[in-house]
Amino acid sequence: GTTLGASAAEKGRYFGAAVAAHKLSDATYVGILNREFNSVTPENEMKWDATEPSQGQFTFANADRIVNHARANGMQVRGHALAWHSQQPGWAQNLSGSALRQAMVNHVTQVATYYRGKIHSWDVVNEAFADGGSGARRDSNLQRTGNDWIEVAFRAARAADPTAKLCYNDYNTDDWSHAKTQAVYNMVRDFKARGVPIDCVGLQSHFNSASPYPGNYRTTLSSFAALGVDVQITELDIEGSGDSQATAYRNVANDCLAVARCTGITVWGIRDTDSWRASGTPLLFDGSGNKKPAYTATLDAL
Ligand code: XIL
Repeated sequence: GTTLGASAAEKGRYFGAAVAAHKLSDATYVGILNREFNSVTPENEMKWDATEPSQGQFTFANADRIVNHARANGMQVRGHALAWHSQQPGWAQNLSGSALRQAMVNHVTQVATYYRGKIHSWDVVNEAFADGGSGARRDSNLQRTGNDWIEVAFRAARAADPTAKLCYNDYNTDDWSHAKTQAVYNMVRDFKARGVPIDCVGLQSHFNSASPYPGNYRTTLSSFAALGVDVQITELDIEGSGDSQATAYRNVANDCLAVARCTGITVWGIRDTDSWRASGTPLLFDGSGNKKPAYTATLDAL
């Protein structure tokens, strides 16, 4: 194929981008989005603070702009994210215990119900494990409601939308030798053994000099897949430029293609200037929308 999306589709996969609703009026941005990508992830618009700014009052207008754009242009939607310690509305940050647990379950239920039938995959739970060598859960208000909060969220999401694939999504889970990777792996294995509804694992894959593309990435992808879940690369960006950046993008694409259950790749933004990173050039298009060497390497690999 001549575009990322078409080439991925020829291999039975999608190629997506994180999208911001307020950029859908930027002609350069939309031009690249519509030409190259066949999946979108709302960058912020489906998060708890965006969709339930006051308890029980749901606002979907900005998320709907992205979902409607996707549907009008034949793109899939990754929903992101139902339950997360970050980007919670103030009212939820101030809750704890059973009140927070109930609010979380209601949030998952309401949002997944509203979008039922329109979401390819949901990030049901995001970033629930701690960094470092402990392999422990991350401390958060949600974690303090009880260790079963993750499986409760997955069961609520399945009940609300039986058609969406339900994913656990995290970062620093790319290197197979990391304790955090092993901890997520053990949770997924346990969920599969006990019948907790989980269909996929999302690897955010934000790579930089502190956490570079790991040589055992393919092992991580295939190991998760062997548990009976799909794997998706959900928030890819790679710090750097030129040949070394292109090589890392090529490696990621090759690794995904080598694993049958690696079903798609999403980059976390379109142009370097769209990146959430404060500085750097981690994406596939430069600030003017020109294709970078990383783009060509990725397209060549697909
Ligand atoms: C980021 C967005 O890109 C920013 O616009 C926002 O200010 C903060 O969140 N992991 C995730 C994403 O799961 O939701 C984060 O997105 C990036 C890290």
